[in-house]
Amino acid sequence: MREVEGTSASPVHLVGPTPGATLGVDIAGFAYYLPEHVITNADLSRMVDTSDEWILERTGIRSRHRAATEEATSDLAITAGRRALEQAGIIAGDLDMIIVATATPDSPVPAASCLVQTGLGANRAAAMDLGAGCSGFLFALHTGACFVRSGAARRVLVVGAETLTRVTDYSDRRSCILFGDGAGAAVVAAADASPRGSAACGRLELLYSSLGTDGSMAKLIEIPAGGSRHPASETTVREGGHFLRLDGQAVFRQAVRRMAEAAEQALEATGLAPGDIDWLLPHQANARIVVAVAEQTGIAPARAMLDMAETGNTSAASIPITLGRARDSGQLAPGQTILMLAFGAGLTWACQVWRVADA
Ligand code: UT7
Repeated sequence: MREVEGTSASPVHLVGPTPGATLGVDIAGFAYYLPEHVITNADLSRMVDTSDEWILERTGIRSRHRAATEEATSDLAITAGRRALEQAGIIAGDLDMIIVATATPDSPVPAASCLVQTGLGANRAAAMDLGAGCSGFLFALHTGACFVRSGAARRVLVVGAETLTRVTDYSDRRSCILFGDGAGAAVVAAADASPRGSAACGRLELLYSSLGTDGSMAKLIEIPAGGSRHPASETTVREGGHFLRLDGQAVFRQAVRRMAEAAEQALEATGLAPGDIDWLLPHQANARIVVAVAEQTGIAPARAMLDMAETGNTSAASIPITLGRARDSGQLAPGQTILMLAFGAGLTWACQVWRVADA
């Protein structure tokens, strides 16, 4: 690993020895799952004082998916995970580890990843959950990459899965317009354990990864009750303490600042110029945030993936869902460079650079 001198780069970062060098870690296959039911802006305008025009203009969202009553986060994760294994051309028994990034596990105990492990039949795999809010998928990819680079694991299934509609307050127009359910998954593998000849544009090579956190702003996005500080009680239920709350404007400003800084550090560390980035793939919270980040980093807004219109903000699932939909719609081509950016509760943020490999 190369230290990046003269920058305030995150102390937690992975970068190759020379500009453009890969790190020996691949995404060998990726996929997503969106539940069938959809909540439209028109549906929301019947619940709170809002309108399709306001939501679309302020967020870029038209509709979002909602899990069926009998579907929990692990169910979404299992479907996405199974599809990712198929894309990678491996079976569940090949997995050494499963990491599920989520803020909405089926229940506090056990970890959702354990339910995913048994649901997939990944009998050899160790499983754990990871909580880093909307940055969770990139935190989990980074963690999986570290296991692979250390030799402790060869193939890790990384999943971002959320049922945010279960913690959304549908009487709060400032937040209920944002969130949707879904899951995305990727098989992280050592480059020499990454099967060739799978689906077109289904393999990515890691060039860079960084993580960041500022816990002093933790209150900007929180579910205040249901943990050890404010255990569930009649009062916490009555006061809506189990719903997700966010200070939208403050989060907006922090999201733009932190993601732009993380992108600039990534460009400096990898020796890439903004014009070398074929796709900016940020967390899909708000189209205005995405455009602002692109403008601040000098990446043409046309290169920024905007995929929230039909999915909303799916938190830890948003990046793999957007990646999967981009591949399915033919946007990816071998040799392209993708810069991924995440920001979320914690506050947390993360940045990764991947190159689309030949099949
Ligand atoms: O995934 C983790 C990261 N999360 C995010 O990044 C979310 C970041 N924040 C945002 O995306 C935006 O702040 C929101 C979409 C949540 C809100 O947009 P905004 O442009 O920041 O609106 P605002 O909160 O400043 O509110 C502006 C006005 C207010 O009216 P007044 O006080 O100016 O009269 C709000 O009451 O818009 C009003 N408003 C609405 N009006 C119609 C707020 N929500 C709505 C609504 N429909 N749903």
